[in-house]
Amino acid sequence: MTTTTGTAAVTRAVGAAHTRVEGRDKVTGAARYAGDLPFAELAHGWLALTTVARGRVRAVESAPVRAMPGVLTVLHQGNAPRVDADYTGVLGRPDPILEMFQHDRVPCVGWPVALVVAETPEQAREAAEALVVRYDEEPHDVDFFAGRPGTYTPEGSPGVQAETEKGDLEAQLAASAVVVDASYTTPEEHHSPMEPHTAMARWDGGRLEVVDSNQGSMWVAEELAKLFSLDPASVRVRSEHVGGAFGAKGLRPHQVAAVMAATVLRRPVRVALTRRQLFSLTGYRSPTAQRIRLGADLDGRLRAFDHQARSQTSTVHEFVEHSAALGRVLYDADAHHTVNRVVPLDVPTPTWMRAPGVAPGSFALESALDELAGKCGMDPIALRTRNEPESGPVSGLPFSSRNVLACFEEGARRFGWAERDPRPGIRRQGRWLLGTGTAAATYPSGVAPSTAAVTAEADGTFTVRITAADVGTGARTALTLVAADALEVDPGRVRMRIADSDFGPAVLAGGSMGTRSWAWAVTAAATGLREQLALGGDIPPQGITARSDTTAAVGALAKKERHSFGAQFAEVTVDVTSGEVRVRRMLGIFAAGRIVNPLTARSQFIGGMTWGLSMALHEEAIRDQASGAHVNADLAGYHVAAHADVPLIEADWVDDPDPDDPVGIKGIGEIGIVGAAAAIANAVWHATGIRHRDLPIRPDRVL
Ligand code: MOS
Repeated sequence: MTTTTGTAAVTRAVGAAHTRVEGRDKVTGAARYAGDLPFAELAHGWLALTTVARGRVRAVESAPVRAMPGVLTVLHQGNAPRVDADYTGVLGRPDPILEMFQHDRVPCVGWPVALVVAETPEQAREAAEALVVRYDEEPHDVDFFAGRPGTYTPEGSPGVQAETEKGDLEAQLAASAVVVDASYTTPEEHHSPMEPHTAMARWDGGRLEVVDSNQGSMWVAEELAKLFSLDPASVRVRSEHVGGAFGAKGLRPHQVAAVMAATVLRRPVRVALTRRQLFSLTGYRSPTAQRIRLGADLDGRLRAFDHQARSQTSTVHEFVEHSAALGRVLYDADAHHTVNRVVPLDVPTPTWMRAPGVAPGSFALESALDELAGKCGMDPIALRTRNEPESGPVSGLPFSSRNVLACFEEGARRFGWAERDPRPGIRRQGRWLLGTGTAAATYPSGVAPSTAAVTAEADGTFTVRITAADVGTGARTALTLVAADALEVDPGRVRMRIADSDFGPAVLAGGSMGTRSWAWAVTAAATGLREQLALGGDIPPQGITARSDTTAAVGALAKKERHSFGAQFAEVTVDVTSGEVRVRRMLGIFAAGRIVNPLTARSQFIGGMTWGLSMALHEEAIRDQASGAHVNADLAGYHVAAHADVPLIEADWVDDPDPDDPVGIKGIGEIGIVGAAAAIANAVWHATGIRHRDLPIRPDRVL
């Protein structure tokens, strides 16, 4: 086993493959998800959604529905409890969709207009579907790809820098021997977690309890407390098992509706969403339109770099898919310009979806780099090597570590890149054209303050408590390994308890920051506990507990460019008779910090890469312009890559421990998808000689 900097002195568990600690419970069905748990007196809520894209709700005709079998109540704008969404949460201002039933305005199709609560889910659904809502309709606009005079440069979106600029772009473009000026589009895409959103709310002894499926129980608890003007200590949110999240599982309308109904009825109420409702209620990735201009010398050195990205948001809230962000990290140029603009439309507000901004941004940017390599007559990897920056291209800050070239080197070796004939459209096997492509990947490596508690139990075991979320990634197992090493005990002696807001503040599972942030807190608490135990003495029946809070330590980190990196490779075949693109193999090599559990890390990387394949070839939510509604809001019409679409995918990594992290972690949640679609699009170009700048690369676009 290799020892890397910044790691615990004694390493047993971290770095060795470990099956999920809850794996047996999951495959035997013992693991209960939010929709599975029984509660006495449980009532069931069903959301009714608007069917018009813009206007006012004139009337919710609830009387006939209230008389239907089993119906307990119908909540709507006329009778629902009041909420107060005038707050700034962990991730900024809340999406006003949480203010449902508070007013008569309809900003999109699929806005919650009523909640029908009944004794059974079937009764609630039947009544909700029978509910008549009258509207005063207004003209709407849901057409993102039309020209857009209303487009503006956003301000004040958390985590989004709208625009960066250095140097004289037009002058450098004019001085460039080679110029690429190309426009790219990506469609609206949806998270589609396997487990749809579900929440149960009840009042119990003066406390509000929510059993949920989310990415951060403390996050959801804090926002619920603010929304309902409750003492934060009186709200408890738990989320034991989560079947996928990808950015969609924060506070969404169903938890709010469940709390409203539980408050009105004084009994537990569960609201579960259908797959179709997810398409309206839980956020999505905005479509993007991007223009990239690159100017270079003949040897490939970049003089001019310009990435302009546009995304959509709703008319009630600003969310920016900041696709122009990654060029601020990847490539330098004498003149460098990036800008994210946004256009408000009569649609639901988009939200974070795996590798927000960077996933569509990398499709455009890494395609443009490939186009530039072609124009310069250079190998695409050599072009990237030529433009490897010394420090942050925009910030000027040093990189904490940057091993993107090591990824390309290792990837090229394993993929067999050296044998590649760069000429496009010349390899054919029967009716198939063959091609290979590559792309760079990067994603920010962040960390946020968290707290943890570690207890030495009298029986010689240890219990860790932290409000972490395991959204299916294996975080619970990773933290078990981290705790075991910090305690210098076998992982079998560590009991990991997560996803209960009563365990105290901790960052949500998002932005590839969860495991790193929680591992830091767990390590700190475990280290403190070992110091206490070293003093000797018996362990009392209640155990000995040490707590940590990483606020000061995280705050003391020096400012650096901190990122994970990677190199993606793909081989495709293109059927010249049907236009079908099939991916034969993919390889991703990542430099993404210390890998805690190779087994689940590999799954996460190839999951992201599979999603990149899906993005490249399949995924596309389509809105009917006339009604403003989706025409394919289900997994039959919205095609997510299935097993038959997914070829041999390999993911591996180079040694890249973060020098400033106690465990060496950087975070791996997002980076698997970054660049994957571009590698496939570049391979399609190599196969056919045709550049596809609009996703997905559907058969009708290929022919
Ligand atoms: Mo992620 S899109 O940060 O859940």
